[in-house]
Amino acid sequence: MCGIVGILGHKAVAGDLVDALRRLEYRGYDSAGVATVENGHLERRRAEGKLKNLEARLHNEPLQGRAGIGHTRWATHGRPTENNAHPHMNERVSVVHNGIIENFGELKKALIAKGHRFETDTDTEVVVHLIADEMQKGCDAIEATRRTLASLRGAFALAIIFAGEDDLMIAARQGSPLAIGHGKGEMYLGSDAIALAPFTDEITYLEEGDWAVLRRKGAIIFDRSGKQVERVRTKSVATSLLVDKGNHRHFMAKEIHEQPEVISHTLANYLDLAEARVSMPDLGIDPAGIRQVSISACGTAYYAGLVGKYWLERYARIPVEIDIASEFRYREPPLPANGLALFISQSGETADTLATLRYCKSQKQRVASVVNVRTSTIARESDAVLPTLAGPEIGVASTKAFTCQLSVLACLTLALGRARGTISSAQEEELVHALAEVPRHIATLLRNEPSYEKLAHDLAKAKDVLYLGRGSSYPLALEGALKLKEISYIHAEGYAAGELKHGPIALIDENVPVIVVAPEDDLFEKTLSNMQEVAARGGRIILVSDASPDRAGCELEAHVAMPKVHPFTSPLLYAVPVQLLAYHTAVFMGTDVDQPRNLAKSVTVE
Ligand code: F6R
Repeated sequence: MCGIVGILGHKAVAGDLVDALRRLEYRGYDSAGVATVENGHLERRRAEGKLKNLEARLHNEPLQGRAGIGHTRWATHGRPTENNAHPHMNERVSVVHNGIIENFGELKKALIAKGHRFETDTDTEVVVHLIADEMQKGCDAIEATRRTLASLRGAFALAIIFAGEDDLMIAARQGSPLAIGHGKGEMYLGSDAIALAPFTDEITYLEEGDWAVLRRKGAIIFDRSGKQVERVRTKSVATSLLVDKGNHRHFMAKEIHEQPEVISHTLANYLDLAEARVSMPDLGIDPAGIRQVSISACGTAYYAGLVGKYWLERYARIPVEIDIASEFRYREPPLPANGLALFISQSGETADTLATLRYCKSQKQRVASVVNVRTSTIARESDAVLPTLAGPEIGVASTKAFTCQLSVLACLTLALGRARGTISSAQEEELVHALAEVPRHIATLLRNEPSYEKLAHDLAKAKDVLYLGRGSSYPLALEGALKLKEISYIHAEGYAAGELKHGPIALIDENVPVIVVAPEDDLFEKTLSNMQEVAARGGRIILVSDASPDRAGCELEAHVAMPKVHPFTSPLLYAVPVQLLAYHTAVFMGTDVDQPRNLAKSVTVE
């Protein structure tokens, strides 16, 4: 989603602002802009599309200011045109914004009635007019901003600079993250520490409702009530973790190939491999007394949760309620006493997941989160954090974060199963060994990558693709379809194999590839029957399985051979072929694999 940066520097900052924005590109955007204070007045440059367009604009018309803000915009209100790109400004004030100002309609109406003229379709522009209006009444920049912030509703982050103020920037956080970077006589602001990594590793995260006055000598932070507060300064690890593509063509490819290593790290955090035992941090709730686990997440993280449901119910015998966060939050389900609420999020900032977490807290649930960004809001608001150690995920399509989420959920299942007496020590040992073998099997699978290219060339010709799976492979079918549609733009749907005949089978003809995710487990024969139904209607079947193709009993267009593994760990392994199929199809089609159209990495609006 939108990225915000700001710098109070010693020399012209426009170049550094663009560099910082480049580090936020992974979040997804469709236009960009910067503004600086130049000889006392505000100047800006904006461009539609990628940052190179903004750079070209700056090359032709450079900005010289030493105080500036920058923005990558992911359109919510108004099309992704240059006119709607941030910063928004008038002669007094310039603003960049991430999130949504929910009451912008009523504020805009009131401002128009007062004679303000709006130039854009954005919600952000009201902030410019509100601050200017307060300044017109005689308030200074800080007081005008304070009053304006009090009138805004919604979830947002803001960075603001002012004409005539070369040593002032105001930052505000209400729902969308913001990090202040401390330099030597310079100050920085960014949507995350990754953006600021080239400049400083001394970071202060603003908390919910905080706003801050930045000057070159430091920052003064106020909480929601206006009281001055101290927030801790942390050493960011973003600098050392900053990634490039290595020898890979895309971040997505690199992240797919990192899976053996990051899954190993994640598992090592929760397993005592020497003793073949799971060792989970204390969740602060007696596992034997847990009445229900309520899982909530979005997109790929939700599919990880869905696998978790199959595991927790089967191995730990705990009832699991799971829902997409955007539904859960408004459904307001009744939740039992002694309930564990589990949230899964790579970014830890997803607005709907966060809102659901807060709802579950209000319902007195014990709150645990599986997150990749430990400093994120979801992590900070959880009673217990179960980190995934995937490292920064830059490709918009989630890959290694998904398999690391599965790794944590598998360990949690074992820990709860053992504590509840639903798995024996011998079973625990067997399952821990099975998990420990996953990285090696994935490394072997990845060596077979070239075989996916040919399959992908065929898939690229399809208009629609179906994915089928049963049991814990059903979420993999959903994930496979999501991966394919988001990066190749081919329409794809995942179905529970048994559900096919209740409707989707009408879609089957000789033009529709059907990818069947079917490990040879206790449900395999059921899935085989559904596959026959597809074959009987001329569907083109690609079977992803450890079973021999002879067992299919029908003609296969292709067979993706998988290693024999314990059925418990198969979701971790079967994630890889669906990722590779999607990746190579998108590469063949020439789409923007790492930053697919319309998508954002960190979804901080609902
Ligand atoms: C798909 C994808 C998204 C995210 C979803 C949740 O490849 O990446 O569906 O999984 O937006 O994001 P997080 O995990 O950051 O909460």
